[in-house]
Amino acid sequence: MSRDDRPDPWWRNGVIYQIYVRSFQDSNGDGIGDLPGITSRLDYIHWLGIEAIWLTPFYRSPMQDFGYDVTDHCAVAPEYGTLGDFDRLVRSAHERGIKVVVDFVPNHTSSDHEWFCESRSSRANAKRDWYIWADSKPDGSPPNNWRGQGSRAVDGGAWVFDDVTGQWYLASFSPSQPDLNWSHADVQKAMLDVLDFWFARGVDGVRIDMVDFLGKDRQLRGEAPLPPGADARDYFISARHQRNRPETLDYIRLMRGVADRHDGRVLIGEMFYFLPLDRFATYHGNGELLDLAMNFRLTFAPLEARAIADWVDSYDSALAAAGAWPNYCVGNHDTARVGRHGEATARLVVMLLLTLRGTPFLYYGDEIGLPEVDVPPERQRDRLSADPNNPRSRDGGRTPMQWTDQPNAGFCPAEVEPWLPLAPDWPKRNVAAESTDERSILELTRRLVALRRATPAVQSGDFSLVAGVPDACLAFRRDHLTSGILVVLNFGDLPLEMPEDLRLGGMIIAATGCDRVGERVDRSLRLRAREGIVIDARPQQADDRSSSERLGVILAGPPLRSR
Ligand code: GLC
Ligand code: CA
Repeated sequence: MSRDDRPDPWWRNGVIYQIYVRSFQDSNGDGIGDLPGITSRLDYIHWLGIEAIWLTPFYRSPMQDFGYDVTDHCAVAPEYGTLGDFDRLVRSAHERGIKVVVDFVPNHTSSDHEWFCESRSSRANAKRDWYIWADSKPDGSPPNNWRGQGSRAVDGGAWVFDDVTGQWYLASFSPSQPDLNWSHADVQKAMLDVLDFWFARGVDGVRIDMVDFLGKDRQLRGEAPLPPGADARDYFISARHQRNRPETLDYIRLMRGVADRHDGRVLIGEMFYFLPLDRFATYHGNGELLDLAMNFRLTFAPLEARAIADWVDSYDSALAAAGAWPNYCVGNHDTARVGRHGEATARLVVMLLLTLRGTPFLYYGDEIGLPEVDVPPERQRDRLSADPNNPRSRDGGRTPMQWTDQPNAGFCPAEVEPWLPLAPDWPKRNVAAESTDERSILELTRRLVALRRATPAVQSGDFSLVAGVPDACLAFRRDHLTSGILVVLNFGDLPLEMPEDLRLGGMIIAATGCDRVGERVDRSLRLRAREGIVIDARPQQADDRSSSERLGVILAGPPLRSR
């Protein structure tokens, strides 16, 4: 049976919840989240209806980039716990039917990794070619014009000169993250062994960090000069030698081989955020490569109904044509939180995320409407905030999860300072308060997740835009054999009346204000400013009564047991 013929793989149907390990729950009172902390919160994740958690890197690391700079891929950083803690977390998650996805960081290691220490020690070292080393040009400048991140996004900025051996090494992200040389068979083997190690420990999949950077031109050819006015984004989109290499697909195929030796493991690839539409299909490769190539468009595109409609429609049809499965992500640890738009818009976006055709990635805290926190300079910890010419702190979207109205919101004990500050409204914006408020964004999220779990149309139904709605409005249908929904979202600042000839009839089964559920829509439909609703719009022949009863059960849901 080919991969696509398997019935309903879990990663298509359920919600994947991203946990920034450092910020979820501290268990030992050092102000830093850890693995046992996550284990202690699995009942909450289960209550929320989550299918899988994705853990950001918890491996041994000097934490220059909070774990994306690994010194031992198969060891747990002491501040996060032990391998035993990890095994307990996986076991407890599996007992609750929750899958576990871990981060896999193959493009680079920490410059403190013993492989790199050996590699830099001499030109003759056996691990010299595990990384990418090159001589200066005759005029003493870097080997070519490849660019790095932030203020290193200038010609030659990806290279770091190393006095020890008088050569440059490639570091596409930061100088403390040297790029591995994936064309070297020993590097491939070592990194595939890492994958095998985690699959054998029971993880259900990996999120592969910056996978589209793996291949590098072996002749180190420079990139073509850019037209005037082009920026770093244009550079990375058009780059053909530093990234977007055809051999990257071969490396992904090797990972696929490892995943397939362990049954049913998912490969999720993080790609450059501005990946053009025509490249998504390439990375899925007819089910031979990635299962999900992460789609970040909703994290950076303007939240305007027309723009969203255009993107979703073209992305959805491009992936359908390629036989690939879509996915959507509206925020993560690298982007500003969706809460930055205010709670009304955050609610709309959560409704959009959870009703589109494609696997939703939900970032921890977005379900309680955590805002992007204004972290004062003296408390910023992100390495990018120290960039001399282009400071950009990602700390505001990485602040601790807020559980209760107790000091430090239950994230860590009262007497310690959490590693990043809380959002100022934590006494009200926390899980305990919102789980007893029927109209909270948490309650909205939980209901939408439940609706998704229970409704084939939402999981796998076809997607089609509804034309003829006002410009500020996004409306689409999801249709399956026996179930169908209609989603109508008003992104505008004014109330809207839907045209009657659209015949938007049916019962409201979810509303961003959690207040209109059960209301019947009969031709005329009025939406408040920034309001979204989901209408049960099943094909006529389906049985009305049993479906409404079923939805009643879903929407009432069980209470959250307090810890
Ligand atoms: C990815 C990670 C980001 C990290 C970078 C380098 O984009 O999400 O946090 O800084 O890769 O590993
Ligand atoms: Ca801790």
